[in-house]
Amino acid sequence: MCQDNIKKKQSAVIVSNEKIAHNVYKMVINQKQIALDAIPGQFINIYCKADSRILPRPISICEIDKQKELITIVYMIVGMGTKEFSCLTVGDKVEVLGPLGNGFNIKDSNESIIVGGGVGAPPLLELVKNIPGKKKVFLGFRSGSFLIEEFKKYADVYVATDDGSVGKKGTVIDLMEDMNVSGDIIYSCGPKPMLAAVKNYAQKEQIDAQISLEERMGCGIGACVGCICKIKADTELGYTYKKVCKDGPIFDAKEVMFE
Ligand SMILES: Cc1cc2nc3c(=O)[nH]c(=O)nc-3n(C[C@H](O)[C@H](O)[C@H](O)COP(=O)(O)OP(=O)(O)OC[C@H]3O[C@@H](n4cnc5c(N)ncnc54)[C@H](O)[C@@H]3O)c2cc1C
Ligand code: FES
Repeated sequence: MCQDNIKKKQSAVIVSNEKIAHNVYKMVINQKQIALDAIPGQFINIYCKADSRILPRPISICEIDKQKELITIVYMIVGMGTKEFSCLTVGDKVEVLGPLGNGFNIKDSNESIIVGGGVGAPPLLELVKNIPGKKKVFLGFRSGSFLIEEFKKYADVYVATDDGSVGKKGTVIDLMEDMNVSGDIIYSCGPKPMLAAVKNYAQKEQIDAQISLEERMGCGIGACVGCICKIKADTELGYTYKKVCKDGPIFDAKEVMFE
């Protein structure tokens, strides 16, 4: 039987919830089971209190503290659900389900390249803490930035912004191309156009890449088919559909069909 289907909603307590950038919040929650079970790249479903917002909101796990039984998430306010989360205060309770999804498959590499875009950066922080060898982190934002100092504790960090407000002006891929970056493996999470560019970069440089897709979701546990993506397969059509919430969100970049 599917593990995610038998997971139950749990109550979690807000330990902190603070603004770290324009419309971006960092929330630490105390939820023993999730903290103990989680691996880098997984996500949680957070439930809203408002009856009008029935569907859970999937948010990546940014940091895991198994000893203190805490998980950290970083989220951007884009609608009413995330607005509601930003109003939660210390001691409030929230319903969560997780950890969900497959998580990154950490390889024993000498040199890893980590590429994050916008709110795709958070799940890469716990990953960076856990991968061996040399690590170079490339982060791209539209304007401004967040989590840079946290990443700098574990890796060399290079930043690009669309408007040039932080780091180099342009995309994170432009930055990687300028620096002629190479390594053994790429781990990435961010918006689709960035992930498609990461896939091309990896193909060109012949580097393995794992990419985390952030598709819109319904149930988040494999029950509604609301999050399918096209994956290369040995079928008549040459592809099949997989569920980002259950089969992913992390896929081998070679298998993901963006077109
Ligand atoms: C696996 C996964 C991990 C995620 N991790 C994070 C995270 O760590 N931090 C974070 O800030 N966000 C993350 N997201 C996106 C987050 O789930 C949505 O922003 C959130 O559900 C929006 O809820 P809302 O009620 O505020 O906005 P809604 O009213 O539901 O939506 C507002 C706007 O956001 C867009 N939107 C909603 N969901 C997504 C999505 N998945 N991808 C792109 N656009 C979307 C909608 O199209 C709409 O334009 C993740 C999504 C997935 C699937
Ligand atoms: S969100 Fe329901 S199947 Fe993935």
